[in-house]
Amino acid sequence: MTTASPPLTRALGVCYYPEHWPQEIWAEDAARMAEAGITWVRIGEFAWSRIEPAPGRFDWDWLDTAIETLGAAGLKVVLGTPTATPPRWLATKLPDMFAVDAEGRPRGFGSRRHYDFSHRGFRAECARIVTALATRYGANPHVAAWQTDNEYGCHDTILSYSPAALSAFRDWLAQKYQSPEALNRAWGNVFWSMDYSGFDEIGLPNLTVTEANPSHVMDLRRFASDEVVSFNRLQVEIIRRHSAAPILHNYMGRVVDFDHFKVGADLDAASWDSYPLGFLIGRLGASEAHKARFLRQGDPDNQAFHHDLYRAVGRGRWWVMEQQPGPVNWAPWNADPLPGMARLWAWEAFAHGAETVSYFRWRQAPFAQEQMHAGLLRPDSAAAPALAEATQVARELALEPEAGTAAAPVALVFDYESAWAWKIQPQGQDFDYFDLVTSTYRGLRALGLNIDILPPDTGDLSAYRLVLVPGLATLSAPLTAALARFQGRAILGPRTNAKTEDFAIPVPLPPALPGLDCTVARVESLPPGTEIPLSGGGAIQRWHEVLEGSAEARLTTTTGAPVAMTAGPLTYLGGWLDETALKDLLRAACAETGVETTEMPEGLRRRDTSRLRILLNYNPEPVTFDGVTIPAAGVHISPL
Ligand code: GAL
Repeated sequence: MTTASPPLTRALGVCYYPEHWPQEIWAEDAARMAEAGITWVRIGEFAWSRIEPAPGRFDWDWLDTAIETLGAAGLKVVLGTPTATPPRWLATKLPDMFAVDAEGRPRGFGSRRHYDFSHRGFRAECARIVTALATRYGANPHVAAWQTDNEYGCHDTILSYSPAALSAFRDWLAQKYQSPEALNRAWGNVFWSMDYSGFDEIGLPNLTVTEANPSHVMDLRRFASDEVVSFNRLQVEIIRRHSAAPILHNYMGRVVDFDHFKVGADLDAASWDSYPLGFLIGRLGASEAHKARFLRQGDPDNQAFHHDLYRAVGRGRWWVMEQQPGPVNWAPWNADPLPGMARLWAWEAFAHGAETVSYFRWRQAPFAQEQMHAGLLRPDSAAAPALAEATQVARELALEPEAGTAAAPVALVFDYESAWAWKIQPQGQDFDYFDLVTSTYRGLRALGLNIDILPPDTGDLSAYRLVLVPGLATLSAPLTAALARFQGRAILGPRTNAKTEDFAIPVPLPPALPGLDCTVARVESLPPGTEIPLSGGGAIQRWHEVLEGSAEARLTTTTGAPVAMTAGPLTYLGGWLDETALKDLLRAACAETGVETTEMPEGLRRRDTSRLRILLNYNPEPVTFDGVTIPAAGVHISPL
């Protein structure tokens, strides 16, 4: 259930921790923020121990003053619920509230996110603190948005192997299957004598001798994701009782351990935390050459992919809640961004329809875990380089305030359950769903296209000419129906529709697409350095399927075996294509469906809004394109 909110214009924000600084400097901080052109200030998300220093003893004075000070400077506040950092006294009160890792070790106190989503006592404490906050500030005119918790899933915190999780998991299974016999059938527990005769016999699938039943693990992941949904919903329902302001959560990049679409259904808008340099070095698995080239700019497609993903999660409304301003502290190496990148990253987000880009953080903290993390100000309050860039963006936004992005002719389906499925049973060590989808996204973006990302239960594809569905473990009924009506070109696979809901191989064999006589007869995975060459150039890497059937072979190996087969609007692709082959396939599909493509130079990317064409140069040197020279880390904005 969502509350309608007024359409917003593009704006800048910043993350601020008044509790880290003496009260005497708050007014000056607020004045400097306003002067820089900042509109939103996110506060409060880690402040539980200062809001409630002892059980039931609240100290609101400082927070009242902070909100008042920011509001008086004309700033709008995003108020975070502080549930990601339960205070020490709460851990003493609820010693079993800690999540437990797969080795059975409870997490310790002394950082953050140490709670267990399934602990009912902890949930009650969350409901209490959120109620207290929402009651006090729900009608405050300066509190214009809310953030629930902080980064669900950060630090690998979705799965827990605690007694609380076990008991809630058993209830969840009993609800789902109703009888142990039904569960045994669904999971195939006849295999290795794994049959259960009661739900209370079922354990968590950790500490097994060899791999646990994949259906068991899949259900644990679904359960854990549902726990995040209900944990978040608890907070949302409380806030809505007291406030009409929009509610967001700040998701992360490349974290797929819970279904963001399901959490997003309860929120007014999505947001995510974008750290382009940290991601490139720490999370992307890119080649060393790519990392070296984009060390100070970040990967040219990673931010864009997440912007499109979170636009889908937010059903059109989304923010960047945290934007890297300078070196971060958490990647294996932490480079300084090229001058211009703090502006470019913001414009990439606005090009994709962001309402707000909020820099993390206002001032670098000289103490504790993140003392090496840059802010817009240095610890001595002097301006860090990103402040001038943010100020420039604010000036530019004043000229182009309207949020939005142009319609995309191409769509790519993204599904969290498929990420779990292929993690549980990769069958080839490097079969990573996120990599598969993002390699498709990169291929499309290198052709200069606007791309939409769609959830797996999409029931209407009529707005698109080309739809890509890589690695979708189980086709949903609405998507199957939409494909049957589709008039453009849909490319499905590899591994699409390869599992039933219960995590078994379907019979008839995959992909079982109505109207397409094509069957995956067998599959193989290929180690790095091995490949199967294709007749038109390029090769299959990582994953190869042997296809049978009478549908037309659209792509073949050099020995003539079909790799992609087509009938009507449907094409099934039976392999993980390298960059060359993928781009050829996408280019041909675009040509066939009348989608205009442009070969973008390396590191130069383009996104159209309804009125503007925005070119972003991620290269460390200038690029000339379409008669325009764009400097290193430069942005070129022109009317369409
Ligand atoms: C985010 C987090 C922030 C801060 C930041 C540092 O993951 O939400 O609280 O830790 O990273 O880059």
